[in-house]
This record gives sequence, C-alpha cells and structure tokens, in this order.
Amino acid sequence: MNLSIGARLIGVGACVPDSVVTNTDLEKLVDTSDEWIRTRTGIRERRVVKDNETASGLAIGAAKDAIAFAGIDPAIIDLIVVATSTPDNLYPSTACLVQADIGATRAAAFDLEAACTGIIYALAVGQQFIGSGTFKTVLVIGVDIHSRFLDWEDRNTCVLFGDGAGAFIMQASEENEILSTYLRADGTGGHLLCIPNSNVAFPHAGTTPPKAISRFLSMNGRVVYEFAIKAVPEAIEAACARAGIQVRDIDFLVPHQANQRIIKAAAERLGFPPEQIVTNIDQYGNTSAASIPLAFSDAVKRGQIKGPVTCALVGFGGGLTWGSAILKWTAKDSRT
Ligand code: UT7
Repeated sequence: MNLSIGARLIGVGACVPDSVVTNTDLEKLVDTSDEWIRTRTGIRERRVVKDNETASGLAIGAAKDAIAFAGIDPAIIDLIVVATSTPDNLYPSTACLVQADIGATRAAAFDLEAACTGIIYALAVGQQFIGSGTFKTVLVIGVDIHSRFLDWEDRNTCVLFGDGAGAFIMQASEENEILSTYLRADGTGGHLLCIPNSNVAFPHAGTTPPKAISRFLSMNGRVVYEFAIKAVPEAIEAACARAGIQVRDIDFLVPHQANQRIIKAAAERLGFPPEQIVTNIDQYGNTSAASIPLAFSDAVKRGQIKGPVTCALVGFGGGLTWGSAILKWTAKDSRT
C-alpha cells in the first residue's frame, strides 16, 4: 500500500448494556430452546438496551474506555468515524453525538454504514487519513442496537443479535502496524440480509399500506451462512497477501461474532487452532458493527491478546459486505 505515514492502534474499548437476555428468557417469547440456540450458534446470552438507552450512549461508553486505555486527551482526536446500521437519528450522525460528549473539540466526525463489516471499513478509512498525513489521531467505533429492529416473534432472527459498542484509537507512528486492509461488497446480495427503511423507501402516501411493510431485520440465514464461510478465508488470505505475510504468521484471529459454527469452519479451513481464535459470542451474540472491537477488547482485558502480536480481524454481513484488516498489536493499557 502506498501510504507515506504509518499508523498503529493505541487503544481499544467497549461498552454493553447491563440487561442480560438469556436463551431461557427467549424460550418464553418464541418456539425455541437453549439447546437449539447454543448448538446452532454458540450463543448463551446477549445484552439488550433498555428504553432509555441509545446507540450513541453505548458508543460514548466505548470511546471513553478506549481513551482511558490509550491515556490520551480527547482534544487531540482529529477524526471520529462511527460504523453503525442503527444510528439514533438520520442526522446528526452518531459520530457528532460522540464528538460533543467526549470533548473531542477539534475532531471531524461522520458515520459510515457497512453492517457487520463496518468496523473494518472504518479502520481502513482511518488508515487512509493517517497515511496521507491529513490526521494524526483517529477514533473508530462500531456500535449497533439491533434489538430495536428485531421482530421478537421471529425465532429465525431474534435469538441471534445483541446490542453493544467497541472502539479503537489509531495514531500516526514511525512503525506502521496496520499492515493491510481488504474491503469487498456485493450489492446483488443485499436482499439476503436487510432492514428496510420503510419511512423513506415506502412513504405513507404511496400505494402500499404502511402496515404491510416490515421495519424488521430479515435474513436468509442459510445463504448468508454459505457466503460467510467462503468470505472469511478469502478476506484473510487476500489481506495477508497485501501485507506480505503468510496466514501462519498470524497469532490471533478476531472474527465477526455471528455464529460459532462459521468461526470454527473458517478457522479450520485456515488452519487456526482454537487457542488462536478470539470469541465471546456466547456472552454477547451478534453485535454487528461492534462485534470485532468488543471481542478484541475482551481478549485484551482477560489477557488472551498481549502485545506484541499480529492479528487478523475479519468481518462479513449485510450489503453484502466483507473485509479484513491485518495489524500488529503492541499497545499497553495506560490504567495498569
Ligand atoms: O452478522 C450477519 C451475518 N449473519 C450470519 O452470519 C448468519 C448466518 N446464518 C446462520 O448463522 C445460521 O444459518 C442460523 C443460525 C441463522 C440458522 O442455523 P441453520 O443451521 O442454518 O438452521 P436453518 O435455518 O437451516 O433451520 C433449521 C431448522 C428450521 O426448521 P425446519 O425447517 O428444519 O423444520 C428452522 O425453522 O431450525 C429452525 N429454527 C429454529 N428452531 C428453534 C430456526 N430458528 C430456530 C430457533 N429455535 N431459534
């Protein structure tokens, strides 16, 4: 990649709502079982926002955690990019709400939407702005509260998702530690996983009765599953080739936490033993754009990831989108 200035991660953080919804709780809502959910997905419980909680609130929590980790003054942040499919508003952006709250007074701020791959897109954007010399310090956040967009009577989807936020802080550095990124999309598969914005696409004045239009997430699970088990190895192999390393040089695989079986199948195909795979899907379910930084933050906090190590982050989801980032992790928590 032809960027003149290197970038590295200096912080990671996360924030989840307090409310836990277990598989047993869901047995009371839909025709499902703890056994089905655990064996088909690996999920045991997930966090869900209360009525007074928001995506921006979780994003702010994750940002503050990452800022404390990095030990920086928020006023030095030049850019905030929030990856989300479930923003508080059409505008102002979630990134602007974060900017105001954390006191990042100098920062430019915008949201991007690439569903569950959003954080990989956000890291790539941050790397470009740092690499070109435009900005020095970039805060990227992945946040989603899919619980607001689920049909809680649809067992095919309501058991899968959880709410949460995760954040990384990137900074210009002499030693480049973001070794590569790889971004892909295939819009012809958009219908396979979607949340229609019925207010915009089908206004009330139209001929279709508003009630007939779902505002809920819908997914063709089997087809997305098949897509995912191919997309993950492809993205990692391509990102490794761009970084000039072999897959065997990676110490930790940090995949999007959508389904434990997808993670296992992809990891086996790439030759990763279980101890090199970072997962927390059992506790949080699929938190979409938040899942990779949330899993990364957890792994750092429990000591599984300890620098210096090389990590492969890989995401896939609605759009369809998929992508990977290969990076070194050398940062230390300023609080310890
Ligand atoms: O981050 C976005 C990316 N999303 C994904 O990566 C999701 C990818 N897909 C998946 O993870 C899996 O396809 C699912 C977990 C969604 C479903 O697992 P599956 O093994 O593919 O199940 P299936 O869709 O083939 O369904 C098998 C059966 C069906 O019943 P019949 O038709 O065989 O009688 C479903 O109706 O399981 C049934 N089923 C359930 N049963 C109990 C579906 N959901 C449930 C449920 N509880 N919650």
